[in-house]
Amino acid sequence: MIHFELESDRELLTGAMLFAQKQVKRLIEKHPDYYPMYTKDGKWKHEGPKWTHWCDGFLPGMMWVFRRFEADRERDPNWWREQAIRYTKPLEPRKLDRDVHDLGFIFLSTYYRWHQLTGEQAFKDVLIQAGRTLAMRYKDKGHYLRSFVADNSLFIDIMMNVGIIFYAARETGDRNLREVALRHALTTRRVLVRGDGSTSHEGIFDIGTGEFLHQSTQQGYRADSCWSRGLAWSLYGFSTCYEYSRDPHFLQTAEACADYYITHTPSDGVPPWDFNAPPDSRKQVDTSAGAIAAAGMLRLCRLLADPVKGHFYWSTAIRILRSLSEKHLGRKPEKWEGILKGGVYHIHKGLGVNESVMWGDYFFVEALEHALRKL
Ligand code: GLY
Repeated sequence: MIHFELESDRELLTGAMLFAQKQVKRLIEKHPDYYPMYTKDGKWKHEGPKWTHWCDGFLPGMMWVFRRFEADRERDPNWWREQAIRYTKPLEPRKLDRDVHDLGFIFLSTYYRWHQLTGEQAFKDVLIQAGRTLAMRYKDKGHYLRSFVADNSLFIDIMMNVGIIFYAARETGDRNLREVALRHALTTRRVLVRGDGSTSHEGIFDIGTGEFLHQSTQQGYRADSCWSRGLAWSLYGFSTCYEYSRDPHFLQTAEACADYYITHTPSDGVPPWDFNAPPDSRKQVDTSAGAIAAAGMLRLCRLLADPVKGHFYWSTAIRILRSLSEKHLGRKPEKWEGILKGGVYHIHKGLGVNESVMWGDYFFVEALEHALRKL
């Protein structure tokens, strides 16, 4: 029976992965060298605003994943490798981009994978520079990396990016960089992660004194609500932070976020866009939060000493991937160009609501590959 379930999961998830490859291939044939962010009525190319410029690593990131997936299946990975390089190279100048807090998203999905494949020092240098640039956002008063919106603002999302500072610190032996990453994570844990494992999107500080003033939100329902994608960023981000630091507090935080996610999400594992939005609004799911949570739980489960808990997160991640693959794929490619339907970017600004979003597709593909390597 267990064997049967593993086989049917493998078949379902492999089917989803092959579908994802087809959608990305169609996208790059239709719109070469274009880096989309979210769909409008299922179409990637439109003039809708970006709000901030943070997503360019996700499309090539998927190509790197496809390359490895094809190599694992003993098929020719070279076509995906060529595409991945073609879409990764133009990102290099972003290693100096001081306008966004997203350099981890951009470079860990691309140059990190490229470096893992080749061991080329030049790619490691790009990663190190990106880590150093991100660290320049550090506020000595308050001990956090400022978000792109203002000096006094800290976002939960930055936990997904701080890994590149840990990486740069480890590869260079730079203790100051490590200190910045650690302090940012400790501040985020203190001010944005609540006692029940839920998270706030944003923290506001007094920039004169560094005093933490209050929780806030940009993309969530309200300051005291739990925006599901922010929770998923936190779950994944604190797991990564534990991998680099081995500080058990960060592992506990990742587990608390995972447990909140599991206990507040319907049984199919796909959450509402905000756990505390009013009931009608909560009918809108965010599949991207589900994909990130699955990817995060697959990382978390391998960090735990307790195999029972590890298995619990593993099987939850598989349940989420199963639901996404069965119910949320954009199965009509002539009408829907993305992989996962039902993502949400910025509900208050009306951007990418109930659409495909590039990070949702990327973390879905990352989680599928991770799961398929083990199934
Ligand atoms: N800015 C990151 C997000 O929308 O989750």
